[in-house]
Amino acid sequence: MNEIIEPLISEEEISKRIKEIAKEIMCDFTQGKITLICVLKGGVFFMVDLARSLEMQVEIDFMDVSSYGNSTVSSGQIKIDKDLENPITGKDVLLVEDIIDTGQTMVQILAHLRAQKPNTLKVCTLLDKPERRKVEGADFDYIGFTVPDEFVVGYGLDYAQKYRNLPYIGILRFE
Ligand code: IMP
Ligand code: MG
Repeated sequence: MNEIIEPLISEEEISKRIKEIAKEIMCDFTQGKITLICVLKGGVFFMVDLARSLEMQVEIDFMDVSSYGNSTVSSGQIKIDKDLENPITGKDVLLVEDIIDTGQTMVQILAHLRAQKPNTLKVCTLLDKPERRKVEGADFDYIGFTVPDEFVVGYGLDYAQKYRNLPYIGILRFE
């Protein structure tokens, strides 16, 4: 089967939207300092471009997580493969995600971050797939785009580690 990518969100739309989100964030984070936390690997492209649009002091840190158990019966529990390098206690933090799907990953990451008692903890997701939500509490403060219940790739998002470097976002189809 061939993999076909049907364009959904263009490079221009992404970059325009990031500038708009950056303005909102700068209005809200008035302390002039922000710590961006990226969940590897999907959020990397988005976080880097967002950071470049923020005219304020920006620190970055990374987490990596994976699901417990085998893939056929997902327990929904995540395992932290890489934790933050620096403590976020008392800091103004923005969690930057690629996509919120069932919401399970984000809810658990948020609980983990909250336990460190940051001063502010907000969430920015590039994409939201609301039709797939399974848990409560996967709420975000900033969003790039709402997408339909389709598998999307590009601009950080992968299918079997492919397509992350596409400059646009598309729907993956098999023909
Ligand atoms: P959740 O715990 O179900 O919300 O899973 C979120 C994670 O699954 C995202 O951070 C992505 O890494 C991955 N994911 C969910 N939907 C897609 C998609 O359409 N394309 C690529 N990755 C996806
Ligand atoms: Mg992710």
